[in-house]
Amino acid sequence: MDFQNKKVLVVYFSRAGKNYLSGRIISLRVGNTEQLAKIIASQTGGDLFKVERKEAYDDDYYRCTEEAKKEQDEKARPALKEHMKDLSSYDIIFLGSPDWWSSLPMPLFTFIEENKRLEGKEVYPFITHEGSGMGHILNDLKKECPKAIIHDGLAIQGSYVMDSATVVRDWLKSL
Ligand SMILES: Cc1cc2nc3c(=O)[nH]c(=O)nc-3n(C[C@H](O)[C@H](O)[C@H](O)COP(=O)(O)O)c2cc1C
Repeated sequence: MDFQNKKVLVVYFSRAGKNYLSGRIISLRVGNTEQLAKIIASQTGGDLFKVERKEAYDDDYYRCTEEAKKEQDEKARPALKEHMKDLSSYDIIFLGSPDWWSSLPMPLFTFIEENKRLEGKEVYPFITHEGSGMGHILNDLKKECPKAIIHDGLAIQGSYVMDSATVVRDWLKSL
């Protein structure tokens, strides 16, 4: 697809700090999904928007996984730090997320609800993960955004993100 004639938004959630990568805990200065979001934005000319929970998740990886699981079980819609005013000018949305317990972090569901469930938008998910790939993210998105067009997504393991420019280029070409 030629993205130059389209208005593209690259919206993503990403958590920098302590994370589990290739079998050990390391501290990421920039999260994996954020790195991937920036590659997609630079190749499509899209605008970037980072979805952030008003109250940051625990920096400790294990405590964060517990917090995230509890939110998921409770179907929470945590408050966001900043809000997007209006998506109406965008044709295409690249929606980026880490795989959290095989789904999206709940702040992304808050974002979706705050933005008319992305009604009428062409949505291309991109996911970073540590082995589970897309999990049930596509199904969850289809349920949450019944009037959006949810396309198949791109899933990349966290440690491969920094070398993913070619994979991203090939994926964008294939759309
Ligand atoms: C709360 C939490 C839950 C996670 N759950 C999964 C999972 O179910 N499957 C998986 O493959 N990776 C899981 N991961 C690993 C992340 O998906 C992976 O490290 C991702 O690249 C992180 O992206 P980020 O740096 O943009 O936040 C989880 C990480 C966290 C912090």
